[in-house]
Amino acid sequence: MNTQPVGIFDSGVGGTSIWKELHGLLPLESTIYLADSANAPYGERSSEEILGLSIKNTELLLEMGCKLIVVACNTATTNAISYLRAHYPVPFIGIEPAIKPAALQTLTGVIGVLATRGTLSSALFAKTSGDYAAGIKVIEQMGDGLVPLIEQGKVESHEMTLLLHKYLDPMIEEGIDHLVLGCTHYPYLADRISEMFPDGIRIIDSGRAVAMQTKRVLEVHHAAATDHSKPPFLRFYTNSDPELLKYFLNDVQDPFEVFPLEF
Ligand code: DGL
Repeated sequence: MNTQPVGIFDSGVGGTSIWKELHGLLPLESTIYLADSANAPYGERSSEEILGLSIKNTELLLEMGCKLIVVACNTATTNAISYLRAHYPVPFIGIEPAIKPAALQTLTGVIGVLATRGTLSSALFAKTSGDYAAGIKVIEQMGDGLVPLIEQGKVESHEMTLLLHKYLDPMIEEGIDHLVLGCTHYPYLADRISEMFPDGIRIIDSGRAVAMQTKRVLEVHHAAATDHSKPPFLRFYTNSDPELLKYFLNDVQDPFEVFPLEF
């Protein structure tokens, strides 16, 4: 069991931000990453479509022999994880916007959440927000258009600058002191956002927490890889441009492989 790979999927390149945290914490684990870029953005699809795509990705990762699946996408987690947990025999780790730490740490009592339409309109998001942010003003902003630009590699573009100002300037005026990045694509915007923010606004995401939860669950199931004698394999599959995926992996030191695949 313990040498089987950990599976991870996202609507595209964004989940690589989670994969990096995961690989950093669990360097002995082999991993298979699916970038469903051909179907991005998930965040602007219906809940039924997001569920259907999540099932497709899950079944492919199970065919590839994965022992655990990380849903490295807030939109897929908030719309599909209950179904996936109920219907497939492996543990699932999901990701949700980090509202709880932001609500606990805010001094101004105002926090911002930037996430996709699909995440912000989900029942699971409403529940998490209700459970943890009572008494806190939460400014929810849908990041329409951000994921398509990231999927085109246009992080530094003028279009991106305009969209970020449109979404974030009102939050600054409202006095947020924490911005929750509720989409796994958005950590790739963190430097751009920091440049726009005045001092004192903290940007938080859930990547590290997801990696730590994955470690805990592997240990509980006695499924962690422990063999130091041979290096794990790190495979990435994309149904879009492999060069784009490689661009987002250009800071990865360990050997990895990127394959084109129709799925
Ligand atoms: N990266 C995904 C998320 O965390 C979804 C982006 C999208 O396809 O809209 O929500």
